Amino acid sequence: MVINIDDGFPFLVRKISKASGIILTGYRDSYLRRRIDLRMKTLGIENYIMYTRFLENNPNELKEAINTITVNVTEFMRDKTPFIVFREEILPEIMERKKKSQSNLVRFWSAACSYGEEPYSIGICSKEVLPKDWSISIYATDIDENCLKRASQGTYSKEQLQNLDPPIVQKYFEPSGVDFKVKKLQKMMIRFKKHDLTSEPPVSKYFDVVFCRNVMIYFNEQQKVKMLNDFYNSLSDGGYLIIGKSETLPGEIRELFTPVSAREKIFKKV
Ligand SMILES: C[S@@+](CC[C@H](N)C(=O)[O-])C[C@H]1O[C@@H](n2cnc3c(N)ncnc32)[C@H](O)[C@@H]1O
Repeated sequence: MVINIDDGFPFLVRKISKASGIILTGYRDSYLRRRIDLRMKTLGIENYIMYTRFLENNPNELKEAINTITVNVTEFMRDKTPFIVFREEILPEIMERKKKSQSNLVRFWSAACSYGEEPYSIGICSKEVLPKDWSISIYATDIDENCLKRASQGTYSKEQLQNLDPPIVQKYFEPSGVDFKVKKLQKMMIRFKKHDLTSEPPVSKYFDVVFCRNVMIYFNEQQKVKMLNDFYNSLSDGGYLIIGKSETLPGEIRELFTPVSAREKIFKKV
């Protein structure tokens, strides 16, 4: 017999969803509980009913709750090897295809870009591989406005740049106080934009590559399928999808993509 004790959690989740506009029903229940438990522990609050009351009485807490749910961990060239395959195999293939259609514009989407390390890594790889006069357009989106603000400033500490070789740091960054700031680069345009993967349609169409790494792990199957269908529709024919190393495509999505590198989680639109 299953005893269903309502501990106030579903009500709390509905409340945060309604107030923030983020469709939290798309996130895994166990993940949400873990994150909210952490926040309650910090505040010394013992149960979800008390936390709901706390939210009602403290308007600033909604922002904290959302921050708790959106984990922002990221780094330049995260996991290294997917970016090597991107640079050495994917970009040259895209370049050859574009040449045939006499285009010199490549378009990328870094979906859930956090503090910007991912879109800047994409830009650096592209600049290193593509001819100088080609245009690189990158949409970098996230639900977290604080992240986007910092990402668009493009300022990073020496430690944050440790995955990049010194000549690359020198080429693409300039000193800014004790930190380093991304240089303004000709023919590279990064647009930072707030976007919720659970509720909004794709930011644009005809992308050559969509990167969506390390956010799908937080979503339930239904939400993953919805989002991956959106990515499918936002990619050009033959475009690529790159997901996180620990992530997998749900069964019903697998027929839409062929694996290019199963190990690096790189797929091509069928
Ligand atoms: C762990 S970071 C991943 C960053 C980067 N893609 C990487 O792999 O290093 C997850 C990001 O997903 C964002 N996020 C969480 N839920 C989201 C949603 N519904 N829509 C868009 N972004 C979301 C968070 O704000 C966070 O910046």
